[in-house]
Parts: sequence; structure tokens; C-alpha cells
Amino acid sequence: AVAALTVKDLAGERVLVTAGPTREEIDPVRYISNYSSGKMGYAIARAARRRGAEVTLVAGPTCLADPWGIETVRVTSAAEMYEAVLARLERSTVVIKAAAVADYRPKCKAPGKIKKTDAAMAVELEKNPDILREVGARKGARLVVGFAAETGELVANARKKLLDKQVDLMVANDVSQAGAGFHVDTNIAKFLYPDGRIEELPLMGKNELADLLLDRVTALRQTGAK
Ligand code: CTP
Ligand code: CA
Repeated sequence: AVAALTVKDLAGERVLVTAGPTREEIDPVRYISNYSSGKMGYAIARAARRRGAEVTLVAGPTCLADPWGIETVRVTSAAEMYEAVLARLERSTVVIKAAAVADYRPKCKAPGKIKKTDAAMAVELEKNPDILREVGARKGARLVVGFAAETGELVANARKKLLDKQVDLMVANDVSQAGAGFHVDTNIAKFLYPDGRIEELPLMGKNELADLLLDRVTALRQTGAK
């Protein structure tokens, strides 16, 4: 009943959303990852679907069930997420990159469980591809939304990422703040735009933030800005 009352303002849009962390394997039993729960990205995917969009969700390892009515592609590593996103980029009209992609991966994955010794050990890491940067570089007529997770200098850092990665809207959040970021159901975000505009938002639920973000996406698509 609620779905029937929703304005289908995203009808005709094909929205690609990424969510969750990635996992970079060290050996068959260990990995490097981060605290992302996937809740924000899943909330965006569900809200976009409710508002009439055709949605594809590329998700890293999360505890969340595949959302109803949404093509969900499960990946593990950043390299797999990169492949999955690039393969689906062409047909998308909006890309929203809420995933917390691991910046580095172990240079070699040990084939067997690494045994401990008395010596200290180091794992050599190499850089993962930056998916959002690649999407921004191939943007075309698409609208691209990024997320920036910061623990200080929020606006300056997020603004730099917005320009570097050529995104149209950056959702900046200070993950060191209580009520924002990982695990919790709420977020405190700022929307940053390429023209320097900043919209400061109060503490709100991730579902509410998802709808507010999609309001801005719709507006940007309709003003022909994109
Ligand atoms: N991102 C990505 N691929 C990566 C790293 C990040 O697509 N390899 C995307 C994230 O999904 C997010 C945005 O880039 O939308 C910003 O991620 P963030 O980790 O905040 O910024 P980085 O550019 O990785 O910089 P740093 O971690 O050094 O702050
Ligand atoms: Ca990063």
C-alpha cells in the first residue's frame, strides 16, 4: 500500500548502487576489510526501487539479505567490485558509490594458512583500483554520486575527492562522530556540489537520508544539469 502511494519520480532511471565493505584475502582464513555494514547503500537501493528506478546493487560481504526486486550482484574483493561495476556502467544513468572499498590488497595471497613464527611479520600491500575515479572519468551523461568517509577536515577532504573523481554530488560524513558512519542506523551528512554549495543535514535515519539523497538526484536530473 505504501509503495503504491510513492511518487515514481525515478521511473526510467537505471540506478547502479554499490554497498558494503570489500574483503582482501591474506591467506585462506584471513582478510583485510573495514567496518562498513552496507546499510546506507542498501537503503539507497531500496528507496530507488520504491521510487520507480530499475536498480542494480553491487554488494560486498554484508549480513543483509538481497533486497526484493533488485538485481543484486555479490562480490568479495575490490577487484571483483571494479569488474562488476564497469561491466554494468554503460547501461546505467545514475551511479551511487556508497561502498567502502579497501584501498589496498595483499600483494600475494598465501595458498595455505600462514603459520606463526617468533619473528615479527609484515604483509606487503598493493593499491586497488579506484572504482569511483574510473566511473567519473567515463561519466558521459550519467549522474555520479560519491561518498566520503572522514575523521577530520571533513569538508576540505570531501571537496578534494569530489573534484578529483569528477562526481556531481558528494555525501560527506564524519565517521568519528557518534550517530554517524559504521554499524549505526543513523548518519550525519553534508551534501557537497561541484559549484561549492554545501547542504548540512541533521542527524537522521539512513532510510530518511537515502530518500533525501534521491530527492537531490531527481532534481539534478530534471534541471538538465545532468
Ligand atoms: N572508492 C572507490 N574505489 C576505491 C576507493 C574508494 O570507488 N578503491 C570510492 C568509495 O566508494 C567512495 C569514494 O571513493 O564513494 C571515497 O572513498 P574514501 O575511502 O572516502 O576516499 P579515498 O579516495 O579512498 O581516500 P582516503 O581513503 O585516502 O580518504
Ligand atoms: Ca579509501
